[in-house]
This record gives sequence, C-alpha cells and structure tokens, in this order.
Amino acid sequence: MDVFEKVKGNKGPLGQYAKEADGYFVFPKLEGEIKPRMMFRGKEVLAWSLNNYLGLANHPEVRKADAQAAADWGLGYPMGARAMSGHTRNHEILEEQLAEFEQKEACYLLNYGYQGMVSIIDSILDRKDVVVYDSEAHACIIDGLRMHIGKRFVFPHNDIENLEKQLVRAVKIAGESGGGVMVITEGVFGMSGDLGKLDEIVALKKKYNFRFLVDDAHGFGTMGETGAGVGEHLGVQDGIDLYFGTFAKSMALIGGFVCGDLDVINFLKYNMRSQIFAKSLPMPCVIGALKRLELLRSQPELKHKLWTIVEALQTGLKAKGFNLGNTQSPVTPVFLNGTTPEASNLVFDLRENYGVFCSIVVYPVVPKDVIMLRLIPTAVHTLEDVEYTINAFSAILGKLNNHEYNRDTIPTV
Ligand SMILES: Cc1ncc(COP(=O)(O)O)c(C=O)c1O
Repeated sequence: MDVFEKVKGNKGPLGQYAKEADGYFVFPKLEGEIKPRMMFRGKEVLAWSLNNYLGLANHPEVRKADAQAAADWGLGYPMGARAMSGHTRNHEILEEQLAEFEQKEACYLLNYGYQGMVSIIDSILDRKDVVVYDSEAHACIIDGLRMHIGKRFVFPHNDIENLEKQLVRAVKIAGESGGGVMVITEGVFGMSGDLGKLDEIVALKKKYNFRFLVDDAHGFGTMGETGAGVGEHLGVQDGIDLYFGTFAKSMALIGGFVCGDLDVINFLKYNMRSQIFAKSLPMPCVIGALKRLELLRSQPELKHKLWTIVEALQTGLKAKGFNLGNTQSPVTPVFLNGTTPEASNLVFDLRENYGVFCSIVVYPVVPKDVIMLRLIPTAVHTLEDVEYTINAFSAILGKLNNHEYNRDTIPTV
C-alpha cells in the first residue's frame, strides 16, 4: 500500500475543516506591521491573537537592532552547529544574561522552544527514570515524553493530591529500577491562562526525591516582579531545577533557552540532539534577543502597561458576565456554549461586523459544545481598544443567547 494513500482523504483533527476554514479560521493572513490594528482580508481589525505581550515585536529599538544585526552579519551567520563551527561570544553572552536573569547558574540556547523541550526530555531521561506530568502539558512536553522509554504517570490538570499519588508510585518504581523521578508542568498554561501550582509542587520536594522541569513559555516576561516568570511570581524559582522559556512570546522572536545548574546545562550542551545536530541560532536572533532582554529588564513599564490592559480586559469581561475560567495570567480565554458552526458564525460576525480578531478554539481541543475564544492582551493595546472589544463581545453574546447564529452550517468564507 502507498503510505500516501491514507493521508489523501484524511486530513486529521484540524485538517478536517480545511475546506471551509482555510485562510479564515485557520491559516488567516494578518497583514501590516505587528500592532493592535492590522489588516485582514482588506479590512482593518483589532488583533487580540498575537503573543506579543510586551509589544516588543514592533518596538523601534528592537526594529533598529534587528535591522542592524541583519546588515552586519546576514541571516546565515554563523554556519554549523554550536559544537562544530556555529559558536560565538554573543551566544555565550546571551546565555550568561539569561542565566543571571533567571537566577540560575547556567543557560543553553535552543533553536526552537518546541524542539528544545523534546530534546531536553530525551537527553536527560533514560529507561530507569520515571516522569510525572500534568495532563494539560504542551505538545512539546507530550512529544518529548513519546521519546521516553521509561515509565510515565500523568496527573489531572493541577490536581496536586493526585500528583502526590503518582509521585508515590514513581518514587517506588524508580527506587526499584535505580532511576530518578522528574516532574514536568507549565508555569502559565497557554490555553486556559491558569498557573501551574509550582509552589505546591516544590513543597513536595521535602517529602519526595525528584527534579522539577517547568515550561514557562507564557510566563517569561509577563509574570513575577522582574518578569523572570511564574517561579519568581510564586517565590519558588530556587525549587525549579530546569527552567525552560521560549523567545516566541514576550521576546517576539524565535528561539528558546533552558536554565539550570552548571553541570546539568553542560550535560545538555553535549547531549541535546536538537542542538548538536542542527545549525546554531543565527546571529541576528542572538543580537535581537540581547536587545529584547535589555528592554524587558530596563523598561518595567512595558510589563506594567501589559497588566493594566490585562486587568481592564478581564475585569470588564467578567463584569459583563463572561466566563474566563481560572486565568491568572494575561492569557484571556472566554468560554461560551454553542456548536462548532455557531462558533464559526459568531467569529465571522465578530471579525466582519465588529472588526475584532481573536483566536477560536473548538472541539476536540475543548469539550463538545464549548466555544473558547482566546484573547491575548499586550502592552501596545489601549484602554479604548479594551472598551470597544468588551462592547463587541457583549453584542455577540446577546446574539448567541438569542440563537441568532446558525447552529448547523459553517459560514462560507
Ligand atoms: C507552553 C509552550 N511551550 C513551548 C512552546 C514552543 O515554543 P516555540 O514556539 O519556541 O517552539 C509553546 C509555543 O510556542 C508554548 O506555548
């Protein structure tokens, strides 16, 4: 049988909507400079779907540093993997600064957060080790665990009582096999916006012997007094053994990093396949990241502005009766009840008639007949943008409750 035969008719859980949704609900093209008002299919929209938390994507100093670095070095420099010929002093400087910022001994850069996480898990754990992880962990953790040939136990999202039960099993099995235990969770859960209970997990270290890996993709730059993330916010940064972050959100760039004790980071340098067998992060990304980190540290007002917008948006939506779940971070999910066609008609209305652009999440990512709209406030939104959006949301909620959206057919886009 031709291996392509099975992929022709079956596009997978997301691809099944490709015909109706392509270019609109999935793969939409937002055009123009990255700012709250962008163009979508020739019309201006108020964009709430970019993880540009601190507004750095289009910050004049960032744009200048990026352009200068591209002119000075080109996008190809350096050639080769770090270990072979792609190593530079700037890569080291960025690592030193990230380690210091995260209050860890050392740091290593990753070309992509996703691949880096897969590779961290793959390189550190062997068949004797046991992993305990949150059921809502990001795909990069789940995919890393697919490479893990030892035992793994999942605990229901943020259920610390259950986590402890899994830890008891894990510690016992690891004791018998001669391996260790690793707990993995997220700082900010990127879909729902709630925080991993890092403080409660760290407290369990007093009773059980394990190492703790945290994916803080959405917490880096947005949470904690200095922006160092959810570990800092909850006062348990010391208890995190490996702190993982990506440049794809607050830093508005590409790449990622992992921080921890020097001996562990040195091991990763020599064993992480995503970095050993891949070309080094390009110099403009490294120089661009140094500039962004400098701004993130020297301009706390960016984070304050972000939180002003977050609080106005979340308080305003709640006051109008919207269910935002348990978010404690800038990630703002809005849960509504309705069918997938209703959800798509509602989003079509929101985009076409109110000019508000946010992401939409439907079954199977959320339960059947739940619609999740996801808004990402940023430091460059204004309070007027917030007010306008809350009014638009009130209007669509009224229509949804009056069953004005078609329950059976997806709009033709
Ligand atoms: C929680 C989380 N972890 C990891 C990643 C992957 O990071 P990257 O985009 O740098 O590959 C993302 C998304 O970008 C994420 O939301």
